[in-house]
Amino acid sequence: MPTTFAARLSVVAPSATLAVNARAAELRSRGIDVVAFGVGEPDFEPPAFVLQAAKDAIDAGCSKYTAVTGIAPLKKAIADDCLRRRGHRPNESQITVSVGAKHVLFNLAIALYEPGDEVILPKPAWVSYPEQVRMMGGTPVLVDTRAEDGFRLTAEQLKGALSPKTKAIVICSPSNPTGTGYTRDEWLQLLEVVRTSDCWLIVDEIYASLVYDGFVAESPYTLAPDLRDRIVVVDGVSKSHAMTGWRIGWSISPQPLASALDVVQGQSTTNATAVAQHAAVAALNGPREALEEMRKTFEGRRNLLCDGLAAIPGIACRRPEGAFYAFADVRGLLGKSYTTDGGDVLLADDDAVVKYLLDVAHVAVVPGSAFYAPGFVRFSYATSDARIREGLTRIERAVAALH
Ligand SMILES: Cc1ncc(COP(=O)(O)O)c(C=O)c1O
Repeated sequence: MPTTFAARLSVVAPSATLAVNARAAELRSRGIDVVAFGVGEPDFEPPAFVLQAAKDAIDAGCSKYTAVTGIAPLKKAIADDCLRRRGHRPNESQITVSVGAKHVLFNLAIALYEPGDEVILPKPAWVSYPEQVRMMGGTPVLVDTRAEDGFRLTAEQLKGALSPKTKAIVICSPSNPTGTGYTRDEWLQLLEVVRTSDCWLIVDEIYASLVYDGFVAESPYTLAPDLRDRIVVVDGVSKSHAMTGWRIGWSISPQPLASALDVVQGQSTTNATAVAQHAAVAALNGPREALEEMRKTFEGRRNLLCDGLAAIPGIACRRPEGAFYAFADVRGLLGKSYTTDGGDVLLADDDAVVKYLLDVAHVAVVPGSAFYAPGFVRFSYATSDARIREGLTRIERAVAALH
């Protein structure tokens, strides 16, 4: 059996979030009740009218290839949605529909990054950003942010990270894993720095509709019309409409890049699934009440989880502006130990905290080091209030047992 693989694979790490989920599944298969704070998808169903639109599309015979970059009604719905949310209607030819936002980002990586290129990523960073850069032979430039700044990249930090080799800056707001959203003023300061360079600015707005306490997720697309010839907006229905499995995401980019993405996708997946595209049309054009209900529910869960975590000695946690993640500081637990049959075990780092919480408290979370932020732990609150309360009780008990 041949065993040689492309060299590019040797620099790519497997997804740490999927690893935690696999270990939790193993415990569950042994009959253990695990509270899952690891998952990165809403626990809601898509609105009923979205599911109906998909059924109608099947009945109408939407079983064939579509145009590579998406069906016309979806591109129209995306352009209308962009006008509604970002105050500007792009030309439909600037829209590329792909198989989820991750696929959008991967296509962008193929189209843009080459060996020698640097891509600036604030850290904590979502797991796939640096890996996609590395896969193309590029260098991720992971820029430290401060917990005290809510993990926001500052204009000064961005200025310090830019170099003649910078090909792109990728910023997600609200962010996975921190939930941090950039305010209008913070964006304006960053955009001033972007103007001093000639690199791409890729803004991942996949969580932009999940914001709380009246926070407004501003888009550079709105704030900097003069930079629209190098801003790429990444978006999709996965998180906003609880449609992760439908795999529909898109980019809004300048025309030449959209044409390049057409070529890239035309040689790989061709189009996103036809039926899923029709479901996405309904999602974007349909009523928004169910989405507002989901958003409000997430807000309540955020408050419950963040405040509950912050009340546990050794854990600090702020209420972030958006997404459905709490990024807790567990550095106060490091150096403590727990007792097992085999002797005392030291909590030396966040990986050890995660292992302790999973194996002893049966609570699944993701280590911050997976996002280049050691000493932190990511909790997803895409689970019910009752499960959040149960998880908090277990964590509290587990922390109290440390010495
Ligand atoms: C920051 C961020 N961008 C993009 C994606 C990918 O979204 P999709 O499921 O549409 O591929 C995710 C999913 O977890 C994410 O957290």
